[in-house]
Amino acid sequence: MTDQSQQPDRNLALELVRSTEAAAIRASAWAGRGQKNEADGAAVNAMRQFLHTVSFDGVVVIGEGEKDKAPMLFNGEHVGDGTGVQVDIAVDPIDGTTQTAAGRPNAVSIMSVADRGSMLDASSVFYMDKIVTDRTGVGVVSLDQSPEDNIRELARAKGKPVGEMTVIVLDRPRHEELIERIRSVGAKTSLILDGDVVGGINAASPWGDADLLIGRGGSPEGVITAAAIKAFDGFMQGRLAPKDDAERQRGIDAGLDVDRIYGGDDLVASDNTFFVGTGVTDGVLLKGVKGPRDGYIHTQSIVLRSKSGTVRWIEADHLASKWA
Ligand code: FBP
Repeated sequence: MTDQSQQPDRNLALELVRSTEAAAIRASAWAGRGQKNEADGAAVNAMRQFLHTVSFDGVVVIGEGEKDKAPMLFNGEHVGDGTGVQVDIAVDPIDGTTQTAAGRPNAVSIMSVADRGSMLDASSVFYMDKIVTDRTGVGVVSLDQSPEDNIRELARAKGKPVGEMTVIVLDRPRHEELIERIRSVGAKTSLILDGDVVGGINAASPWGDADLLIGRGGSPEGVITAAAIKAFDGFMQGRLAPKDDAERQRGIDAGLDVDRIYGGDDLVASDNTFFVGTGVTDGVLLKGVKGPRDGYIHTQSIVLRSKSGTVRWIEADHLASKWA
């Protein structure tokens, strides 16, 4: 008899990658056309269509918003064919919608999946302060410490000079002081226009060219990042950053602790996570959609799985006639 415990289990993300590929292909048709909503709508439609072909029972914990405001992939929506594993799913059909519309780099279509009930629904508070790095950060960096101390301590733990440290920061007016403080200790900044999920992956992965990501970005993106970087045992903390008292109260009413520092395991409790991303426009992590060329549309995707720690890069050629 075969010992089932020795059998390799299923990598759900290998099926889900078709959804981000589809979303990226549809979104890329809108790249550079200045129409954000059309790009997003096309990506959402395509992602949803393909999600329903996969045998799993998913509940959208982080989607495009509340039911009625977002017609599809709303929080609480069931996706998949309803059979098989029960999971939470967090989607961002385009992370970098503005970049896509402008025809700029670094837009991706992404989703994270984890065991049912394990993802924090942080969507009632829009922003989160984040710090992301690799496993060296454990016990070394913290949102409680100043950025200067975090950089110095991490440099020491990594055994490299502070002058060689690179910190990814979203290029926003709210980060002006943070950027100055990072540079004041001699570290370099890598300023990104959008897309702090890819930024987090770059800061936490062994191949990334940055050491840390610090700053305020979307809370949903924070949860997606937490699930993704489990594949390389990365380190992350997040603290919700309500814009005003009303949002603070909405967070509290939703059961969130708006003063707490959430660790990676608080954001996504499960150690069984999957992440899938497909490039929409060319970026630091993934190439964007290419073509149609010689009858094919080319996509590049990344598939991460925490249980096995596997990182897969998937190049695909799609018959252009099927996407006409
Ligand atoms: P969307 O394209 O999904 O709107 O998000 C882009 C993004 O850059 C995220 O990666 C980031 O977390 C968030 O926006 C930052 O918010 P803001 O643009 O308001 O600073």
